[in-house]
Amino acid sequence: MKTDIKKLVSQMTLEEKAGLCSGLDFWHTKGVARLGIPPVMLSDGPHGLRKQETGGDHLGIGESIRATCFPAACATASSFDESLLERLGDALGRQCQAKDLAVLLGPGVNIKRSPLCGRNFEYISEDPYLSGKLGAAWIRGLQAHHVGASLKHFACNNQEFSRMGCSSEVDERTLREIYLTPFEIAVKEGKPSTVMCAYNKLNGTFCSENKRLLTDILRTEWGFDGAVVTDWGAAADRVKGILAGEDLEMPDSGGENDALIVRAVREGKLDEALVDQAVENILQFVFDYTENRVPDAAYDLDAYHTLAVEMETECAVLLENNGVLPLRAGQKVAYIGAYAEAPRYQGSGSSRVNASRVTSALETARDKGRDVTYVQGFPGEGDVLDEAELEKAVEAAKNAEVAVVFAGLPDSFESEGFDRTHMRLPDCQNKLIAAVSAVQPNTVVVLHNGSAVECPWADQVAAVLEMYLGGQGVGQAADALLWGEANPSGRLAETFPLHLEDNPSYLNYGGDGKKVRYAEGIYVGYRYYEKKKMPVRWAFGHGLSYTSFAYENLRTDKTSFADGEKLIVSVDVRNTGAMAGKEVVQLYVADRNGTPNRPLKEFHAFQKVYLEPGEVKTVSMVLTDRSLSYYDADLGDWYAPSGTYAILVGHASDDIRLETEVQFQTAKLLPFEVSSSTTIGELLADPRTKPVVGAFLAERLARRGHTDLGTSSEADQKSRNDMMYAMPLKSLVSFHVLTHDGMVAFIDQLNAAIQGN
Ligand code: BGC
Repeated sequence: MKTDIKKLVSQMTLEEKAGLCSGLDFWHTKGVARLGIPPVMLSDGPHGLRKQETGGDHLGIGESIRATCFPAACATASSFDESLLERLGDALGRQCQAKDLAVLLGPGVNIKRSPLCGRNFEYISEDPYLSGKLGAAWIRGLQAHHVGASLKHFACNNQEFSRMGCSSEVDERTLREIYLTPFEIAVKEGKPSTVMCAYNKLNGTFCSENKRLLTDILRTEWGFDGAVVTDWGAAADRVKGILAGEDLEMPDSGGENDALIVRAVREGKLDEALVDQAVENILQFVFDYTENRVPDAAYDLDAYHTLAVEMETECAVLLENNGVLPLRAGQKVAYIGAYAEAPRYQGSGSSRVNASRVTSALETARDKGRDVTYVQGFPGEGDVLDEAELEKAVEAAKNAEVAVVFAGLPDSFESEGFDRTHMRLPDCQNKLIAAVSAVQPNTVVVLHNGSAVECPWADQVAAVLEMYLGGQGVGQAADALLWGEANPSGRLAETFPLHLEDNPSYLNYGGDGKKVRYAEGIYVGYRYYEKKKMPVRWAFGHGLSYTSFAYENLRTDKTSFADGEKLIVSVDVRNTGAMAGKEVVQLYVADRNGTPNRPLKEFHAFQKVYLEPGEVKTVSMVLTDRSLSYYDADLGDWYAPSGTYAILVGHASDDIRLETEVQFQTAKLLPFEVSSSTTIGELLADPRTKPVVGAFLAERLARRGHTDLGTSSEADQKSRNDMMYAMPLKSLVSFHVLTHDGMVAFIDQLNAAIQGN
């Protein structure tokens, strides 16, 4: 029977209610035994269970149960596959039921603003649409088991430096288009039962006390009806928090903050109804879980290990390949680098899972009887060049047909809690790759890292395979991909710039610890590199395959659409190679109306499709008016001007194969009030004032006898028009076109036209 939560709340004392608004301990909510309210357990997330049975910490230091370590978000994002994320959520949900966890803390959908963010490995993408869609899929999979998700970290937690106090300074349009959109999509499409507010401030107010964020936007605009949970220790002024819409404080403050809530209610400073609402929100996820317990849930760690391998095989991205891959049976191959033997497969901090087992590429190759030698070459931790090891590596490479270097970032280079200081691999690894590739043209680099790295040797090596932090099965997945037992199908969810200094946030990232300005605005990731026409190492969406794909017959179900309508875009994709494989069909939209300040194109739909050699499949994707829109801060809404939009479809952001155009009509009108500073150009651009000002100009020109417009040169006409467009109404008085009173009357007439009079 479904518990009547409102009735329960009405039976609780104020102290009990305030108490329920904070944790029992590090991982549990409180219970109220007399009313049959049980405590439940929450745990990290997001790529495995970090259930701490005794004691707790949010640093990933203490022991947790043995569990499957699935690929981290940096890897699963590269699958570009909603069904994979849903399957991952599903596997985690089953495990949570078996381990009695009511909430798993994830997914993290913060935007990868800079490659330096220490937590990029836990986040999805530089693109808001991809982040939101994949986050929503993970939530759906998990919550199908009545285990709550905790969408985090809301919002603008894009750096680790000073994460508990720094204020992210973001303008409204950027906030909406880039940083809030992933949360918006995940809330609307995933319906998470909790959202975790971030540690940092947003434009000067702690996220945990930010009513605009936690109530006005999250609940009122997006329809969120779950509980807002603080990040661990993020509660600032608890009463302000409740007023803003923060429900559950985690972990607990030893009763300190609960007492403040009680006092504020007693002193009339806090409406008790708000406390009731917070308790209701919390009890929803508590009872959704406890009423749907699967007491005999069990799972097989071996089966989940196999799933972790399968998933990572779908995630890895083949970045370069001159044909050396796949390796051929019987080839003599030198494996070099510590990560061949002990891969780096997950990041450090609160998401760290006690992996049930970890398989390496080296042991897999040996198990499969491949002709592989091994030299460590460089250590898995730190940056120490051992000349003797380097020489051994060079010798091994010379004596083999192919050298495979297993490189990556050591744990101490990237982690929750701090940001990277540079974007390089350890120098010892770069030196080794240069030395090995100098003697062995068939050098392959396999990368293990949580975020983009500089690859100065990229043009000297024969192939690069990006495994990211691929979970406990990363070694087996690397083996299958290297040796052609599987076909790579991952795509980059983030741009790899040539150099850190190219990144748009470079001059501002980190800030001074008190404030960090998001001065690059909406130009994050490919939106920036494309607009600046900057070369990058590998573009957003890039990823190679052992087969090839052709795109044919791009079409839309209509040539013109309007507000509230859907546009269906279809394309046929053909596998033109000899191996079965998966293609990620990517759709980008470009404004072709000359609207100022828009990226060249933006990612708005995708679909991963499996094709046998020679097979053709039709892929259909849906666009809405939102897909064409930017956020207009004056309108306070999304807006796409009427006009022409290009639909670009292809293999990657830098590999568009087909293009078509559609027309769009909007009934939305931007706010507009004419004053003496309004220019003729602005009046001509607005459909409401254009006829009025057009008639006025025609009449004035005729009166002055200017009938030669058609005979002057094009350049003269253009400069005359441009000068006229830039002219404010007040200058019509200066130039004797209107009297002052005439101008005032004209302004009234224009404003009346805007009002529709
Ligand atoms: C992290 C969260 C995590 C929590 C609990 C915090 O430090 O920011 O992502 O879920 O700890 O471990």
